[in-house]
Amino acid sequence: MSRKALIAANWKMYKTPAEAKAFVDAFLPLVAGHTRDEIALFPSPVLLPTVIAAAKGSNVSVGCQNIHFAEEGAYTGETSIGQLKAVGGTHTLIGHSERRQYFAETDEIVNKKLHTALKHGIGPVVCIGEVLAEREAGLTADVLKTQIAGAFAGITPEAAGPIVIAYEPVWAIGTGKTATPEMAADAHRIIRAEVAKLLGADVAVAIRILYGGSVKPDNATSLIGQEEIDGALVGGASLKPDSFTAIVKY
Ligand code: PGA
Repeated sequence: MSRKALIAANWKMYKTPAEAKAFVDAFLPLVAGHTRDEIALFPSPVLLPTVIAAAKGSNVSVGCQNIHFAEEGAYTGETSIGQLKAVGGTHTLIGHSERRQYFAETDEIVNKKLHTALKHGIGPVVCIGEVLAEREAGLTADVLKTQIAGAFAGITPEAAGPIVIAYEPVWAIGTGKTATPEMAADAHRIIRAEVAKLLGADVAVAIRILYGGSVKPDNATSLIGQEEIDGALVGGASLKPDSFTAIVKY
């Protein structure tokens, strides 16, 4: 089964509206007509209207880096799924390691956010991955299984279609250290087997598993070229149109 790759840009807390618009204006002509892969941009919430307007009618989707699980309420500083939809966003990252590390997001919170995204037709990219100490202790498989079981609690095979998983070993994020293509593919096989156990073989075969963690133009081909790797979630190298284009066109 061939899965269409998704190449996604996680801009984190970078760019002003003017910089974001300049990126999209430069980027769209570079990827015009590129249909082999899906392309998505994940800017900060304050940039969403600008980026969505600039990308309108193109082959580039736009989503949030984080949403709250509640539909609305007294949650100072948060963004709701209704707000994301109202400005035309179609996707959201969930459980990025920086959210887990700095904002205490647990598997339980990730699970609630996943239910909210699916209920409202927003495409979720669920991020999982081990920290260095866990890898060194030989715990990678256990950590990934626990994160998947936690994230997917109560999700039915029928509802799982839109879910994308991003495997991002935390020790590879922003460090310039990448998992080797073999290490990443091994982790992806563990993840796919666990999805099969929880949601059945059909969901497991179809679900896209992205790799993230220091993906750059010069390693994109060897990583995304792996049968098991269905695209990339790119941080640092997604901030410039040229380098992100080189990854999109790996
Ligand atoms: P990086 O970030 O490409 O800068 O390592 C990836 C991510 O955090 O999604």
